[in-house]
Amino acid sequence: MSTPLVIAIDGPSGSGKSSVSRGVATRLGLSYLDTGSMYRAVTWFVQSQGIDLTNVQAIAECARLAEVIPSVDPNNPGISVGTVDVSEPIRSDEVTRAVSIVSAVPEVRTLMVSLQRDIAHQAQVGIVVEGRDIAGVVLPDAAVKIYLTADPQARALRRAAENGANVDATKQQLLSRDKADSTREASPLEKSADSIEVDTTHLSLDEVIDHIVSLAGSNV
Ligand code: DC
Repeated sequence: MSTPLVIAIDGPSGSGKSSVSRGVATRLGLSYLDTGSMYRAVTWFVQSQGIDLTNVQAIAECARLAEVIPSVDPNNPGISVGTVDVSEPIRSDEVTRAVSIVSAVPEVRTLMVSLQRDIAHQAQVGIVVEGRDIAGVVLPDAAVKIYLTADPQARALRRAAENGANVDATKQQLLSRDKADSTREASPLEKSADSIEVDTTHLSLDEVIDHIVSLAGSNV
């Protein structure tokens, strides 16, 4: 039997990662894992426990108690912490503002990376995993590695169209999250040397999906 296909898709917020990753997974009949939602779920849990976000040790201890359970169905993505479905609350501004702090805590990353590897290795049909450090850290043996980019204005326009927020405010938020994500010590956001960069600024969603499916072609 051939090895299940693993596709790693990294990139900054608003680069189109989630729509592209889900589209590629659906097209190829693979599972799908949104690792950003896992860091958001831990952040939601830490906030729900009233933890002080300046206390790194308290965040790490709290994260150990969070039972993060992501769905791997690209047509029905979602995530729970224990028995609580947190798919909606993890998209709140409160979580979005705090997630860079929580995801920079090394113990949080160790816990999530280990869970992400377990989920990827259990996916018998193959899997598309999206995040920031998938190609470089989580799944360095992935058969296909993509780094999605788009210029900040295009990214802000897409995010604002999704959630109805102001474009300029969204752009500032994206840029400050990029900065926090790419300057942190533990697994900063960066393109891994062997990833293929795809600039989505002037491409439609279908064009990006077609491109990645064709790159994956020889591995399917
Ligand atoms: O993709 P997103 O915006 O839902 O990600 C939320 C946050 O999680 C983002 O600020 C960076 C962090 N993240 C990370 O550090 N590593 C990943 N593999 C995925 C997301």
